[in-house]
Amino acid sequence: MRVLGLETSCDDTGVAVFDTDCGLLAHKLYSQSQMHAEYGGVVPELASRDHIRKLLPLVREVLADAKVAPSDLDGVAYTMGPGLAGALLVGASIGRSLAYAWGIPAVGVHHMEGHLLAPMLESDAPAFPFLALLVSGGHTLLTDVRAVGDYHLLGESVDDAVGEAFDKTAKLLDLDYPGGPAIAAAAMHGTPGRFRFPRPMTDRPGLDFSFSGLKTAALTATQQNALDARTIGDIAYAFQEAAVDTLVIKCARALEQTGHTRLVIAGGVGANVLLRARLTEHCAKTNVHLYYPRPLFCTDNGAMIAYAGALRLRAGQEEGLAFGARARWSLMDLAVP
Ligand code: KG4
Ligand code: ZN
Repeated sequence: MRVLGLETSCDDTGVAVFDTDCGLLAHKLYSQSQMHAEYGGVVPELASRDHIRKLLPLVREVLADAKVAPSDLDGVAYTMGPGLAGALLVGASIGRSLAYAWGIPAVGVHHMEGHLLAPMLESDAPAFPFLALLVSGGHTLLTDVRAVGDYHLLGESVDDAVGEAFDKTAKLLDLDYPGGPAIAAAAMHGTPGRFRFPRPMTDRPGLDFSFSGLKTAALTATQQNALDARTIGDIAYAFQEAAVDTLVIKCARALEQTGHTRLVIAGGVGANVLLRARLTEHCAKTNVHLYYPRPLFCTDNGAMIAYAGALRLRAGQEEGLAFGARARWSLMDLAVP
């Protein structure tokens, strides 16, 4: 089965063609982040308009790259939620209409399921069941994954998502948007030990997270110190250490509680080099196999949507002719296709 995947939930326009026999045939990404950087964060209306401009040309380019004609496709998958309503509607309306025009089925994909299954695009793909740490700009989730659509929530953030904390802290430090890569880069010049921030909710049992206190600790540090380049590096360093430490402590706890021997890490923050290194260290010590997508497929992309869509279409799931978008949509509401 050959599926065209479209991702437009936030500020990346992603398109890909995935074939269940041959793998990924082509993928392209257009990032709007430079446009939004001017405003220090995503401006939803600008995001929607840019998806409208970019999506169809990108579809043409990807089909040409894959050497695939519309008549060679068996379905279209688009991100149906969660995300920015206007941005989602661009992908949903174009995806549903293309499928209608081409006479093939369409399926709306949950964005976080796309992230969750993205490691399966790699040659070293995880088998079910596994523990998944999903860390993005909108979500911080620890999930027990038994099969496609069979997800059990073990823990989540009670306030800010970890990516959101990276982005907000970067803003406090006058760093670029998106904040995750900017903090990681600034932290490379940081002095260990000058600041120490809390590891929220690690001193009590449970698998939930909280990141707003960490952001407040960074805010206090910015207020009590002159923000020169050295201090920015030192605060970024302490922030990244605390955020990564918190994630690793909770993953270790969840692995111990569930007995899983496979850990999947996905979502934008999964591209963080320190997080990968610390988890690799922990997993090596405890005989756990760690899986993650290449950095490009950690952040938003069309390949993960084409892949998740192909699995669901192959299982017989498809949308009616009406299309919709779900700005808020829990991963736990999904069912086995
Ligand atoms: O998955 P994603 O691209 O979009 C959402 O679904 O939200 O995740 C974006 C988030 C942003 O908060 C961004 O700052 C963060 O992922 N991020 C990182 C890194 N690269 C992206 N955070 C830490 N380190 C990185 N290298
Ligand atoms: Zn995402």
